[in-house]
Amino acid sequence: MYSVDCSGCPIVEVPQRSRVSGLNGVAKSESAILTRIAALLVPHPRGYTLPQALYCDPDIFELDLRRIFYRNWLFVGHISQIPRAGDFITYEIGGESLVLLRTRAGSIRALFNVCRHRGARICNHPAGHMSALVCPYHQWTYDLDGTLVAARNCGADFDANGCSLAPASVRVTEGFIFVCLDGPPPDFTVVEQDLHQHLTLHELEGVRVCHTRSYLVRANWKLLDENARECFHCAGSHPEYCGAVMSAGATTPREVELAAHIQAEKEAEWRFLGFDVRQKPFAPGTFHSVSRYALRPGVVTESLDGQPVAPRLGGLPTLDAGVVGIGIYPSLLAETCSDYAVTLRFTPRAVDITEVEMAWLVRSDAKEHEDYEIDRLTAVWRATAEQDWKLCELNQLGVRSTRYRPGPYASNEWGCRHFIDWYLEELVGRPSLTASPSRSIAREP
Ligand code: FES
Ligand SMILES: [Fe+2]
Repeated sequence: MYSVDCSGCPIVEVPQRSRVSGLNGVAKSESAILTRIAALLVPHPRGYTLPQALYCDPDIFELDLRRIFYRNWLFVGHISQIPRAGDFITYEIGGESLVLLRTRAGSIRALFNVCRHRGARICNHPAGHMSALVCPYHQWTYDLDGTLVAARNCGADFDANGCSLAPASVRVTEGFIFVCLDGPPPDFTVVEQDLHQHLTLHELEGVRVCHTRSYLVRANWKLLDENARECFHCAGSHPEYCGAVMSAGATTPREVELAAHIQAEKEAEWRFLGFDVRQKPFAPGTFHSVSRYALRPGVVTESLDGQPVAPRLGGLPTLDAGVVGIGIYPSLLAETCSDYAVTLRFTPRAVDITEVEMAWLVRSDAKEHEDYEIDRLTAVWRATAEQDWKLCELNQLGVRSTRYRPGPYASNEWGCRHFIDWYLEELVGRPSLTASPSRSIAREP
């Protein structure tokens, strides 16, 4: 695991065999890969981890990029990272690069970072400010909306129409920016409604990124998604997180019952205060989850001592607002308490390398050293994330062994089964096949 204590991604030499192609790149015949996957899945029972090749094979990784990452909504960042016209961030996925920028009209655009002259990459910085996009090769110049405005020596009859930069789809919801590279994008309406329902009082349009941290985790991206979909491992691995979140550390039936009792009490209190607490867990056919859950008695945020680490967010009527957990396949895990939010963006870099960029967000008027300290603000999630990356790397080491075989998810790993069902539906157009085995211990929540 590599980490960098700043925004942007560390430079890592990715092995040649793992280099990936863009939207149109096809390393091998797609039909041959699909035939191979179909053969792998025929004996694969629902409720089991995936066959080895789906975690380890570079050709299947290429298919993951084309069918999962290019076709779905990807979380890229927060609006506070590009507040003024001309501010930009870049985002790379597979062989593609996007420039996310604020236009003069104040909207946010996503443009493919590919010059319409001879194809050079235009913008080579992770973030910054520009008055126009100027290609470094022969200086073709584009306005912030992607329109070509200058092209030298192209003759009097040159028609700039049709030479705008290619756009990608963009959605901004509750301050979070999502892109989709290859249309038509999935319907995002219900996701936006559910995010708004749970986040409106947090007013996340009014926060700013105060700290980022990047990691390169030596594991296939699906192992990170699976890890994020269950808290079976929490009690044994996350002392800081379990010290804050009531349900995470509950293992015995008595503890589970107590956690459910406290959750019900808190929901009644929150409802009285005006919160809409209808939970939206992952459901069949969905690719998102948004839920508000209770912290331990006396704990008001995810901090080491349970006490606030930043000023109260937005219009929340109480500091004791629990935590809103958000998951959106394939690239976002986020949580927000009453004083800060944290986002984890998963970006696959190779079949066995996943970049995670973490961002912490506080009220935009909060001042470091007066209102918050980075170490205190980030302590719980920094510890929790680094514990998870170690587990994911151990998982990758095991699944590449000759003795690895798909294993059954436990009853409290139903989120993993939902993720695998969604993944296989996206990858090969059908759910994780066949009937559950008779001895399966997996069940829906
Ligand atoms: S490739 Fe961009 S101006 Fe020539
Ligand atoms: Fe974890």
